[in-house]
Amino acid sequence: MDGKLWWYTTRASGLVAWGLLAAGVLWGLLLSTKLVTSRPRPAWVVDLHRFLGAAGLTFVGIHVTSILLDSYVDFGLVQVLQPLAATWHPVAVAWGIVSMYLLVAVEVTSLLRARLSVRAWRLTHLLSFPVFALSTVHMLSAGTERHQPATWFAAVLVSAAVVMLTAMRVNAATQPAGPGPAVTPAGARTQG
Ligand code: HEM
Repeated sequence: MDGKLWWYTTRASGLVAWGLLAAGVLWGLLLSTKLVTSRPRPAWVVDLHRFLGAAGLTFVGIHVTSILLDSYVDFGLVQVLQPLAATWHPVAVAWGIVSMYLLVAVEVTSLLRARLSVRAWRLTHLLSFPVFALSTVHMLSAGTERHQPATWFAAVLVSAAVVMLTAMRVNAATQPAGPGPAVTPAGARTQG
């Protein structure tokens, strides 16, 4: 392996992080639209949603750490933490940095959920949508693999599925309440 080991690690971990976060968003939407399970909901389905988010954040950590260790392109702490501070594709990298901060907010509030009101947790959890959108823009603008048709195919396919499931979720939430329990986001506490 040549001197680009950390650069390859950056690229691979970025792709894995995006895949895990995309899967986490899709799984959360499948749960909240109740397309995959009925009540009572087995614990593993929500555990899987949590796992995908946590694993995505772990790979973002590997992604950023390997950029710092890499010497092929020059990134320091300021360049990985402050949007637009990088000289290498500053705007494309900034989408990733903003996405990382939003992801941290989603993860931290999920860990502290028992201490938060349902409304506060739910509002922060909605940041998952900009996390997905911005990390997708980041992948398609910063990534070396953006030249591959497969990258665009995956981004378009997953984005279409997210839009479709979100429309179903919004539609269900705006329907008059029936006799059954209200539709809630994945893992949200329900009344009663
Ligand atoms: C939620 C957060 C993030 C996700 C999901 C993510 C994901 C990705 C993906 C999928 C790629 C494309 C890899 C490739 O095509 O080879 C990429 C590239 C890149 N990301 Fe991130 N990223 C995130 C945050 C960050 C942050 C905070 C930085 C800080 C500097 C960063 C810097 C880069 C750079 C420099 C590249 C270009 C590597 C290449 O040539 O492919 N990313 N990222």
